Amino acid sequence: MKKKESYKNVADSETIKTEVVCPNDANPMGLLQGGRLVEWMDIGAAVCAQTHSGKICVTASINQVDFNAAAKVGDIITIFARITRAFTTSMEIFVQSYARKVLAEKKYLISEAYFTFVALDEMGKASEVISLLPVTVSEKKQFNAALLRRKNAAKKK
Ligand SMILES: CC(C)(COP(=O)(O)OP(=O)(O)OC[C@H]1O[C@@H](n2cnc3c(N)ncnc32)[C@H](O)[C@@H]1OP(=O)(O)O)[C@@H](O)C(=O)NCCC(=O)NCCS
Repeated sequence: MKKKESYKNVADSETIKTEVVCPNDANPMGLLQGGRLVEWMDIGAAVCAQTHSGKICVTASINQVDFNAAAKVGDIITIFARITRAFTTSMEIFVQSYARKVLAEKKYLISEAYFTFVALDEMGKASEVISLLPVTVSEKKQFNAALLRRKNAAKKK
């Protein structure tokens, strides 16, 4: 078993962010704008990456953004950000967003995306991050899939 100082777990940086859709976040039909949702997801993912690495991080890429369902003015949006894998200086963060009507108990998935963040040192150069040790079956699945996604993205360049 590795020493805990040499790695972190997914749960150590899991981030939950809550927003309420206001008229300024919506289109003329009162539906939440995709760009505003991605902005909120980016902030949640940044907090997750910075908590894992203990460093300032910047968004390097946003991939596989899916908008599965719409949300409306007044809905409560909950954003869950979890690290899937730490590479050398970069980390992949999986973000899922859910919407719920104020008086409803049930939330439903509205969007998913994979963000890549790079940790920076004081000079603004890419800087090494601590390893991630996945624990659960789904964490291990995401950990392995992250490497495939990275290889596939590299092939497209
Ligand atoms: C992301 C950034 C720091 C990378 O800097 P760089 O000097 O090109 O760094 P390197 O080529 O040494 O790569 C560093 C890491 O970034 C990753 N990376 C670089 N560009 C990437 C991209 N487009 N997508 C995913 N990962 C990327 C590399 O794979 C590498 O990861 P690793 O160390 O884990 O293997 C730099 O391009 C940057 O500052 N971009 C602007 C970020 C920003 O301002 N974002 C906000 C949106 S405007």
